[in-house]
Amino acid sequence: MPAQQEIVLSGIRPTGRLHLGNYFGAIKDFIRLQDAGYYCYYFIADYHALTTVEEPTNLYQQTLDMVRTYVACGLDPDKSMIYRQSDLPCTAELTLLLGMVTNIGHLERGTTYKDKLSKLPGGPEGPEGNPLSYGLLGYPVLMAADILIVRADKVPVGDDQRQHVEMTIDIAQKFNHRFGEVLKVPAPVPRGAIRLPGLDGSAKMGKSEHNEVGLLDNPKTVLSKIKAVQTTTDPPRLDTDSDLPEVVIPRMPPTVGVLYYLLNLLAPEAVYLDFLGKYRRGEKFYGTLKAALAEHISKFNAPIIERFNAPNNNEAFAKEFLRGNAKKVTPVALATVEACREAMGIGHSLYRA
Ligand code: TRP
Repeated sequence: MPAQQEIVLSGIRPTGRLHLGNYFGAIKDFIRLQDAGYYCYYFIADYHALTTVEEPTNLYQQTLDMVRTYVACGLDPDKSMIYRQSDLPCTAELTLLLGMVTNIGHLERGTTYKDKLSKLPGGPEGPEGNPLSYGLLGYPVLMAADILIVRADKVPVGDDQRQHVEMTIDIAQKFNHRFGEVLKVPAPVPRGAIRLPGLDGSAKMGKSEHNEVGLLDNPKTVLSKIKAVQTTTDPPRLDTDSDLPEVVIPRMPPTVGVLYYLLNLLAPEAVYLDFLGKYRRGEKFYGTLKAALAEHISKFNAPIIERFNAPNNNEAFAKEFLRGNAKKVTPVALATVEACREAMGIGHSLYRA
């Protein structure tokens, strides 16, 4: 247990049902930090989700499902503070204040933003100039507000979010330099987590790539997804005696590699080694391997599905739970916003209790 309880914060956008990639890439680490004695804020970033929403979708419903899945995975509602971003509307106010110390040029160098800009079908200039939204450009400022508002010490993030945390540090330092030491400057912590490959053989399992196995997928769905993974007849020889997944998997065709990757992750070692032997001997094995893998995935999912559907984890629970947590985090968040208002010279909000 850390000497003084340090504060951890992380968020996930409610873009759909959670999958194995989310579990091994984030949630597992969230649980580890929770159990290591940190004070953990894990929130559902519904404002951030709006940056990619083109038409109304039921983000609230997805948020409730996510809360239930978090709890089903082992996040403890008594230990971790799980809340919804938009239940702290003062985050938006802090975003506005932080926007005053954020350079546009800095935001324009954001990799997510640059990436979106380069992928615009009509190029970076529409008839009215750059067609990307202000919200998208400001994504990192909103993220800075999330982090700074609860005075987080540590922010566990994957590589794709590291730059955003660095921007947060920069914004906080600039604010403190200009207006006094008001904000706690956080540190990123690398996630002790892994990036799962997708069922299509690509490097990352993701909802938007449609290459994922959901944590709530039932055995039938799991089997049909695994069966649909493309396999090659006569895969190339491995040319190594090593059985280590990190040595052999890169030598396999990517879609075969992902089957072995998941088998190594979820099945007992003997099963992985058995199928590796079959690969080496050139035996026919895809059918049995896929059936075995599907079974092990379903075995992993089963308790999560059960806890997701438990009566004490139903939708009414999720709603109440979010309501209660919003009430608990609000004073912490408001204290930060009021301190920033004060430091910047506009003083307290007169309408807030
Ligand atoms: N941008 C993060 C993602 O897409 C989600 C997120 C929003 C976040 N605010 C955050 C993560 C603050 C860590 C800290 O994964």
